[in-house]
Amino acid sequence: MADYKCEKVLPYDNQKGKTEQVEQMFDNIAGQYDPMNRLMSLGNDRTWRKKAIEALKSIAPQRILDVATGTGDFAIAAQKELKPQEMIGIDLSEKMLEVGKKKLQSLGLSDSITLQKGDSTALDFEEGRFDAVTVAFGVRNFESLRKGLSEINRVLRKGGAAAILELSEPTNPIYKLGYKIYTDCIIPIFARLLSKDTRAYSYLPDSIEAFPEGEEMKKLLLECGFSQVTIRQFTFGTCSFYYAIK
Ligand SMILES: C[S@@+](CC[C@H](N)C(=O)[O-])C[C@H]1O[C@@H](n2cnc3c(N)ncnc32)[C@H](O)[C@@H]1O
Repeated sequence: MADYKCEKVLPYDNQKGKTEQVEQMFDNIAGQYDPMNRLMSLGNDRTWRKKAIEALKSIAPQRILDVATGTGDFAIAAQKELKPQEMIGIDLSEKMLEVGKKKLQSLGLSDSITLQKGDSTALDFEEGRFDAVTVAFGVRNFESLRKGLSEINRVLRKGGAAAILELSEPTNPIYKLGYKIYTDCIIPIFARLLSKDTRAYSYLPDSIEAFPEGEEMKKLLLECGFSQVTIRQFTFGTCSFYYAIK
């Protein structure tokens, strides 16, 4: 049974579970993901990742795991900025990882970042393995949010930190109206122009709306074993940042 509304928001109306549907959707859109991401966030996705990485500087993490790494943008930015000894990115979608591996090759980073297939809700790493775990725009897609966050907590060492970025709806009514016009009218136009899978871009606002934001997410992070959680909002509240210490 789903604990959170976002777990019931599925990309397609078929009989498969959320994990399989999410994998299928990202396999479908992998080729267009990077330009779509840049266009839909109006270039802000890079700034948001940068701010999240900035927060990690105080713990100087040497072993970092980027879950739901997709095409590897968070892992690449963190590798460049934090220069850890080890950086691993995992994702469900082989096709997203393929795009990511090509990027690593062209940037000369194939030896410093490992990208591999894996499910964030059942991590194949031992307890306390990492100093930091990063996730950008991934947790909203988890079949079980509680399981995914508990797994992130499990693989962190004590004192390690999770830096979680997720898209959110602004609470200010004026910004919210602008956001609604943007997601309901503009994003579908971009999707039709750039993507073969238009359902992927109606799943986006549906899953953002259903995600437990702010204090509700903080409460869940504390229940999943984190001892301290700080929340920040970026760009009129369209992106939320959770910095959680184990
Ligand atoms: C919106 S993309 C974000 C990619 C990347 N983090 C970024 O900053 O652009 C979400 C990614 O999460 C992955 N994902 C969703 N659920 C996952 C899970 N349970 N385990 C691993 N990856 C998952 C999807 O395959 C997809 O590549």
